[in-house]
Amino acid sequence: MGHGMAVESELEVIFTPEAIAARLGELAVKVADEKLDNLLVVAILKGSFVFAADLIRAFHRVGLTPEVDFMTLSSYRKNRVSSGQVSILRDMDLDVRGRNVLIVDDVLDSGRTLAFAKDLIAARGAKTIKSCVLLDKKVKRAVSVEADLCAFECPDVFVVGYGMDVAHRYRELPFVGRVVKE
Ligand code: IMP
Ligand code: MG
Repeated sequence: MGHGMAVESELEVIFTPEAIAARLGELAVKVADEKLDNLLVVAILKGSFVFAADLIRAFHRVGLTPEVDFMTLSSYRKNRVSSGQVSILRDMDLDVRGRNVLIVDDVLDSGRTLAFAKDLIAARGAKTIKSCVLLDKKVKRAVSVEADLCAFECPDVFVVGYGMDVAHRYRELPFVGRVVKE
């Protein structure tokens, strides 16, 4: 077998590549049903880059033609727990004024990151703002915010893979998993 086996023995798969792909197809249909003209997708980096890449190709398959931009946000974390402050590490390039924006993020946890992104994009004059997250951890939010669309509800465990990392590792994995051996 390939070299991936070593990494995979440290992890327990939670969402398989097949399950993710099928769910993204369903989400794309839902977004298409919204009939949002001039759609702008804003992917929150780094964690959402794989999800966003697959999602926009699912959008293509249902006939959507979004523009895409990126914003790198950091929510300071100690011991994998969000400590509050969200900051912009790299801002987006495009003007959101008057546009229908879809924010794409990997995990909705405390809610601080999504709330920050929504407030910022609203303050810049977006016409509508929707949000789509890969994983929704059904935990007590620090900030009252919910995603309009979510691929999967996720147990309150620290997950990696499919773009998500712990200490910069595991982003390359095609599935979402949890670390069982460190
Ligand atoms: P929030 O601001 O607490 O909602 O956290 C959201 C951000 O924290 C997401 O954009 C993720 O990048 C990161 N995050 C939260 N939980 C996890 C996890 O289990 N694995 C990897 N990243 C996570
Ligand atoms: Mg993130």
